[in-house]
Amino acid sequence: MLTPLLTVVLSATLARAHLAPFHKSMYALNGVSGTVNLNNDDVVHPLYQLTKDQWWLHAYNNVPDFPPADGEFLELPAGESFTVEIASNQGETSLSFGGQFASDWPDGHTYPEDYNVPTCITSPNMHTQNETRAAGTAFAIAYTSDIKQVTPDNLAVFTVRYHTPWKRVTSYDVPAGMPACPSGGCICAWGWVRRRPSSTPPNL
Ligand SMILES: *[C@@H]1O[C@H](CO)[C@@H](O)[C@H](O)[C@H]1NC(C)=O
Repeated sequence: MLTPLLTVVLSATLARAHLAPFHKSMYALNGVSGTVNLNNDDVVHPLYQLTKDQWWLHAYNNVPDFPPADGEFLELPAGESFTVEIASNQGETSLSFGGQFASDWPDGHTYPEDYNVPTCITSPNMHTQNETRAAGTAFAIAYTSDIKQVTPDNLAVFTVRYHTPWKRVTSYDVPAGMPACPSGGCICAWGWVRRRPSSTPPNL
């Protein structure tokens, strides 16, 4: 069974995110300027010191006003998996420039497999010292096709991937019993449990 949904990026769990999942079904594909920006990083911007109305579903920079094109869905095959590209900029994914600036990593550069920075990896801005310490990311789903109807009460986490964000191409498992979405699709949101360096205040 295929379960269509729309993807919107939610970074509610972190304050200084600099990575987000990209997919052609996402809100704000090509940015929020109104013209196509293949170097869009509008969904990546940190959500910090904002009111809930501002940070919820990235409203402060109008991400919900830029829905995916008609018919673009992220397919959620029940019992199987789906794949997104976690990146710091759309230009570093397969969605822009034929993928020529994409690498195995989220920022188009190359790093050792055992990449480790005892303070914190800041290039890319992963908020972890190494892969083992990466705290994980999650996708949640709301069974509505109307982004205005998505609330903390009807948005439910359905899959997590430990030790991410790490590499660009990242897959998440879909539960076998995943119910089908309405014909207009569901709304999906992504969140990141950021590991907090000891130097940052506890609310970040
Ligand atoms: C990952 O970072 C933690 C914290 O600095 C460290 O204790 C651990 O040894 C590191 N692991 C690897 C595989 O580098």
